[in-house]
Amino acid sequence: SPRQLLKDKKVLITAGPTREMVDPVRYFTNFSSGKMGYALARAAKRMGADVTLVSGPTNLSVPEGVDVKYVVSTQEMFDAVMREYGSQDIVIKCAAVADYKPAVRYNSKMKKTNEAWQIEMEKTVDILESLGRKKEHQILVGFAAETDNLEEYAEGKLRRKNLDLVAANDVSKEGSGFGSETNELLLLHADGKKKVLPLVSKDRAAELLLEEVSELMGR
Ligand code: C5P
Repeated sequence: SPRQLLKDKKVLITAGPTREMVDPVRYFTNFSSGKMGYALARAAKRMGADVTLVSGPTNLSVPEGVDVKYVVSTQEMFDAVMREYGSQDIVIKCAAVADYKPAVRYNSKMKKTNEAWQIEMEKTVDILESLGRKKEHQILVGFAAETDNLEEYAEGKLRRKNLDLVAANDVSKEGSGFGSETNELLLLHADGKKKVLPLVSKDRAAELLLEEVSELMGR
């Protein structure tokens, strides 16, 4: 088993997509599988951490020894994360949170008509940005999935959301997209340090990322 680099540290990880309902049978979501976040939860556990996983809907099984809180919508993920935040040492936001949700949620199924259906979308709450604003002792890590301008956009998120570290991946690249078994991460630190990780399994990428995070803990 890997070195106990996170022994007795409290680590909160979010994973998977969120889902925004427009009526009881229809929703908006994205292609996130949750694999990277679940790999992080397992790896943190192996490294001796006390792990809480806040998970959107996925097909993955519960990682052993991990406290899982299941959520559906962005608002539910926000509420769950805020409940846990104060007691955590490290927070890693790996979830692919929905950026928009239907402005109106109908309580009964919308009936089909001959007309088009216009759905107005409004912004969801940015969970990580909210955490960044109230950050105290916690180490805050974000993910950035992009299809272009990877480094520039990731750097922007690092600053805007007040993060210690951002793990960026190009989702248009072979082997690092949603649902793939592998990932190729670019790590950007708040202090300007930059590290390119190799294309490896999500389990290995999780270990490498957590090793980097454990180095931040020592400071
Ligand atoms: O969606 P975006 O590219 O801004 O995501 C960057 C980081 O912010 C990710 O770590 C993601 O989990 C987090 N995020 C969030 N709440 C949102 C949108 C993104 O916590 N509403």
